Amino acid sequence: MAKTVKTIGVLTSGGDAPGMNAAIRGVVRAAIAKGMNVKGIMRGYAGLLQEEIVDMKSTSVSDIVNRGGTILYTARCTEFTTAEGQQMGADICKKHGIDGMVVIGGDGSFRGAGKLSALGVNTIGIPGTIDLDIACTEYTIGFDTAVNTAMEAIDKVRDTSTSHERCSIIEVMGRHAGYIALWCGIANGAEDILLPERYDGDEQVLINRIIENRKRGKKHYIIINAEGIGHSASMARRIEAATGIETRATILGHMQRGGTPTCKDRVYATIMGAKAVELLDEGKSNRVVAYKNGAYVDFDIQEALSMTKDIPEDQFDISKLMSR
Ligand code: ADP
Ligand code: F6P
Repeated sequence: MAKTVKTIGVLTSGGDAPGMNAAIRGVVRAAIAKGMNVKGIMRGYAGLLQEEIVDMKSTSVSDIVNRGGTILYTARCTEFTTAEGQQMGADICKKHGIDGMVVIGGDGSFRGAGKLSALGVNTIGIPGTIDLDIACTEYTIGFDTAVNTAMEAIDKVRDTSTSHERCSIIEVMGRHAGYIALWCGIANGAEDILLPERYDGDEQVLINRIIENRKRGKKHYIIINAEGIGHSASMARRIEAATGIETRATILGHMQRGGTPTCKDRVYATIMGAKAVELLDEGKSNRVVAYKNGAYVDFDIQEALSMTKDIPEDQFDISKLMSR
């Protein structure tokens, strides 16, 4: 395929994730090394429609590989979900000479990327979300940092939970996906993990297990509750009333989305940024960069969006085995 891309735009969209800056840096420096121009689009698709577009040079991304958040800011933009908004976005790209675009975000952002691609802007997606819920890839930018942040916080709650011989419910992020909860459940040695994909809402089973556990002499009872199930505070009140064991709820919240990215997030995000530029340089469009079976690969956006993934049953079973 002919090399056509001269100017690459890069934007971050949806929820931010630690490592997005490393990906932006990867895109900018790999593109400049190929003699391309780079433009940063502020605030995702919202900034595109507002023409918040800045020229980026190599030094624009100095000192960011180690920083959480995204220097381009991020946003959610309803207008871009409409055909008129998408056409306006493509027209603005053309007006600014942007013939290649890298979109760093989750599935929603990829839907937008697919639309831009269909309107003639060569577009590549990079998976950026702490939720790890993008089916085509085993790695998403930010998950590693987020689980490590959550794990450290849960260790701290565990200390005080043991001292007071309490039950602790710790709510981690993941409205639709339980990967953070599953990983923390295993890493923190939680007694119970409540996942949106699995929890049947039977609180009595939970209460019975807490009582049994206390009879066996265990000092604490840690429940990792995914945001998708939520209601941690009221659940704590009901558990305390039913078991007589003091119960506290802690919601970790957006602290999981920030902070210094881990080594893994910096490295994978940088490589994915550079791979996205390679794809554009090869004349490709409508692709998502992914990591699968130990290799960086890419998928057609619609194919990627049609894939599904679920919590690995064996891993969930092992987590339960460890909590006995
Ligand atoms: P994420 O990318 O993390 O999944 P969202 O689902 O909030 O986050 O999507 C981010 C943005 O992507 C939305 O605010 C919207 O601008 C754009 N987007 C989402 N779905 C579509 C769609 N079907 N068509 C075009 N753009 C979309
Ligand atoms: O998708 C990332 C995520 O942090 C989810 O885990 C969470 O449900 C959601 O974003 C929170 O979004 P907001 O930043 O709008 O509160």
